[in-house]
Amino acid sequence: MRIDKYLAHNQFGSRNDVKKILKDKLVYVNDELVTKASYQVNLDKDIVTVNDEVIEYLEKFYVMINKPTGYICSHHSNLYPSVLELLPFDPDNTIMVGRLDVDTEGLLLITNDGQFSHRIAHGKKDITKTYFVKLRDDFNKKYIDIFKEGILMDESILKPAETEVLSNDTLLLTISEGKYHQVKRMMHYADNEVIYLKRMSIGKLQLDEHLELGAYRHLTDEEIAYFD
Ligand code: URA
Repeated sequence: MRIDKYLAHNQFGSRNDVKKILKDKLVYVNDELVTKASYQVNLDKDIVTVNDEVIEYLEKFYVMINKPTGYICSHHSNLYPSVLELLPFDPDNTIMVGRLDVDTEGLLLITNDGQFSHRIAHGKKDITKTYFVKLRDDFNKKYIDIFKEGILMDESILKPAETEVLSNDTLLLTISEGKYHQVKRMMHYADNEVIYLKRMSIGKLQLDEHLELGAYRHLTDEEIAYFD
């Protein structure tokens, strides 16, 4: 594996951050100074150090990315690039937890831990997701109660949704399922249309407001434990 991928995978930030660590001559492999991002590390026998600290290869990773629009949550790029192109991980081993549409921004979880992903996407506990929604027209407040009761979608009644009206045409909508285009379809039901959508949180996990669009960071142990 390339040394820049190895370090980015192990919490040293983006590949650009890693380039800087390499340029600053902080990285050694088996006591040999390495400055080239393309240097190949052998995961079975090489010992990597940064600033004299041994960097073990992380088995499991848990990352949040602030997904920009124009990227798809799919392993393969088609008309649009895959969001995985923004990350240093091997796509074959990577799971996107709860997908976002190409024109949706915000919090997306990426991991290689299948059980973690399963607990969030299909676990027994309902995990809420909160979206910031901007609408084409003013929101008709009668739908606050209607969404709370649950509307019919794909032949079943949706679980109660919470609507917090922020202004005439912006909302925070909290839902606990993840049906295809769910938020957009709920807004169509309310005779309206979503013109901007951003996921702000999943359960207790909030999108880190310091993350620029397209940037990612590893979750803290406390954040990972939200989903135990
Ligand atoms: N609901 C949608 O309509 N789109 C998303 O990307 C997420 C939820």
